[in-house]
Amino acid sequence: MVFVSRREHFNAAHRLYNPQWSDQKNEEVFGRCANVNWHGHNFELIVTVKGNPDPDTGFVFDMKKMGDLVKEFIIEKVDHKNLNVDVPFMEGKLASCENLIIEFWKILAPKIKEVRPDSALHSLKLYETPNNFVEYFG
Ligand code: NI
Repeated sequence: MVFVSRREHFNAAHRLYNPQWSDQKNEEVFGRCANVNWHGHNFELIVTVKGNPDPDTGFVFDMKKMGDLVKEFIIEKVDHKNLNVDVPFMEGKLASCENLIIEFWKILAPKIKEVRPDSALHSLKLYETPNNFVEYFG
């Protein structure tokens, strides 16, 4: 089994805010991330697919196709968007990296299978800052 990864980048704004809490509690829990007028991040998404090399190509997954899939179904939906208000699959959800990565998985895992049924999405890693990142294995 070989693991192949592709990195993609997007910029997005968000606000961490639980509408069931008071403004004061939101500020206590989320700090500056609860800022009313939003704030932005330079996100890095790392997509890892696993499988055995195709005997005809030597590839676990065509990287060009992986880049195209990630761009079409993820990056274009979130890049230069406000995650709280512009992104249909985040509607009604707290715009945290954790919730975001779960939604990315739901979209991407079937697309990967569609392109190469012998492969599978292994993990997603989402960097919100160079120091903070979340990982998801489905
Ligand atoms: Ni933030």
